[in-house]
Amino acid sequence: MRKSLQTFGLSLFIVLAFIVIGIGFLFGIDNPVPWIMIAVLIVLPVIHKKMTARKFVAWDDSLSVGIQVIDDEHQKLLSLINNLQTSVLYPTGESFERQALSELVDYTKYHFEREEKLMQENGYPDYEPHKQQHEEMIAKVNVFLQSYENDREGTVDELTGFLKTWLINHIAGTDQKYSQFLRDKGVR
Ligand code: FEO
Repeated sequence: MRKSLQTFGLSLFIVLAFIVIGIGFLFGIDNPVPWIMIAVLIVLPVIHKKMTARKFVAWDDSLSVGIQVIDDEHQKLLSLINNLQTSVLYPTGESFERQALSELVDYTKYHFEREEKLMQENGYPDYEPHKQQHEEMIAKVNVFLQSYENDREGTVDELTGFLKTWLINHIAGTDQKYSQFLRDKGVR
């Protein structure tokens, strides 16, 4: 569901809940309906927090490639994805969203270039197919960026989902394949 619709629905529910509470107490303090609504209003933020927490990505040592500089960059990428996820879930405004998106795209390109340089300098045999994966990902992101200008809200949600899945799978799969090779070359 779109963020604007969700925010509207939630606001409407809260207003209606307060109206029900107010009217409910007119029928007596022992009327259970307003108390039930108060309980719902107390529990609602806890449920919302649990549901949204699942949408954020977290670093896990199983994602480590055993090279500190790369792990640091991967962690920064996850943190930038979470910034973008924040803009998807909360009414942060267009400028926050654009900045989060631009920082993530720029840093992803920066990281790819650094990683490719490291693989190339050390003669990693699977350098070309790895680089090709990076290029295909950037090409897909560029398509998203074009459609973002026509449909901000719908695109940023889809793009965030794509980036989360792609990056986690890439780090845990393709990136880890160079780990032992580069470590054997003395890269730490
Ligand atoms: Fe860490 Fe191949 O990207």
